[in-house]
Amino acid sequence: MSLKNWRFQTVLWNTKNLGGSVKNRMQSATPTITLRLNVRISVGLLAMFLLKAWRSTAFGVYGYLNFTKSGFLGHSKNFNPEDMSTRIDGKNCIVTGANSGIGYATAHGLASRGATVYIVCRNKERGEAALSEIQSTTGNQNVHLEICDLSSVNDIQSFSSRFKAKEIPIHVLVNNAGLLENSRVTTSEGYELNFAVNVLGTYGITELMLPLLEKSQPDARVITVSSGGMYTAPLTTDLQFKGEKFDGVEQYARNKRVQVALTEKWAEKYSNKGIGFYTMHPGWAETPGVTKSLPSFSKSLEGKLRTSEEGADTVIWLALQPKEKLVSGGFYFDRAEVPKHLAFAATKSSHDAIDSIVATLDSFGNFSI
Ligand SMILES: NC(=O)c1ccc[n+]([C@@H]2O[C@H](COP(=O)([O-])OP(=O)(O)OC[C@H]3O[C@@H](n4cnc5c(N)ncnc54)[C@H](OP(=O)(O)O)[C@@H]3O)[C@@H](O)[C@H]2O)c1
Repeated sequence: MSLKNWRFQTVLWNTKNLGGSVKNRMQSATPTITLRLNVRISVGLLAMFLLKAWRSTAFGVYGYLNFTKSGFLGHSKNFNPEDMSTRIDGKNCIVTGANSGIGYATAHGLASRGATVYIVCRNKERGEAALSEIQSTTGNQNVHLEICDLSSVNDIQSFSSRFKAKEIPIHVLVNNAGLLENSRVTTSEGYELNFAVNVLGTYGITELMLPLLEKSQPDARVITVSSGGMYTAPLTTDLQFKGEKFDGVEQYARNKRVQVALTEKWAEKYSNKGIGFYTMHPGWAETPGVTKSLPSFSKSLEGKLRTSEEGADTVIWLALQPKEKLVSGGFYFDRAEVPKHLAFAATKSSHDAIDSIVATLDSFGNFSI
């Protein structure tokens, strides 16, 4: 938070040259400086500053202890190896943003267990390279490339009509594509870029894939890769960070909070469709995205970050578990359901805003099924 609103009202430097007796004069040979500082700050502003400071500190400490590689290694002592031994031959999975990082590791993990995997990438060359790497290293030829720029509503709609024409059931949709853009970038359709990919793209593709997901009920599931960064942000209806000095990290955290609240909403709204909705966060993994967007963070935690495979572990776990074991609308980390809010962070009640957010997202595109 900027401190620009703090008003340093009066700064009074008062140098006294004391008079009086010789003795007194000798005692006060050093001049005294009296500094009087009057600071006026509104109680609301101070409370918000302290709340934000608390959220960031709690997140930093909790993250350092849990989200790093050592956190993964600690948590993995409780993992059941059998959970990951399930084969999913014949199941159709979509993984967005699968040409690098966690998305690539997820697509690879699903393909190695026999699934038919559709990798959705925005760049043909990067997509083709990932496709051939996954096919050759898993021996699974049922991996297919779909091109779609998830920052574009038009592109999502045309991808969706193309894909729906296949008329196949979708068992697993992994909403992984995401980014943290530090400066304000506006897409050709007029949306702030982080919001366009992380929120509108995730919302659009999920809504449009519902008919195909329904075809595989009761086993269908949507897994959205959120971020622990969302712990620092309440849900806000200011989806495109208007009216404030742009802060990419804050916008990313807000986007990731929307994904968690949206997942709760979907679980409730579509509870009769046989589709499970889950969000998870991967911890802190060293990926091309993190290196590019958070270079100092990445450098300062060099050697301590998770691998992409460790980041993808819970995504794959969620795809493989019997649905009875999972809570639709839940938020997962390291193969367990975890709280959506940090203690005393005052983010819980903000989720009430989700209906108005959904209405806004619907107004941005024709996503109705
Ligand atoms: N790594 C972490 O520590 C961490 C922590 C919390 C959450 N996450 C989340 O994990 C997910 C994967 O991130 P990552 O760390 O693996 O980063 P990454 O290596 O940069 O992967 C992001 C993927 O999303 C794709 N993507 C970005 N914009 C897109 C668009 N407009 N249309 C289609 N695809 C697009 C990227 O494609 P290009 O290669 O073409 O850019 C890439 O394939 C993200 O949702 C991220 O927020 C990561």
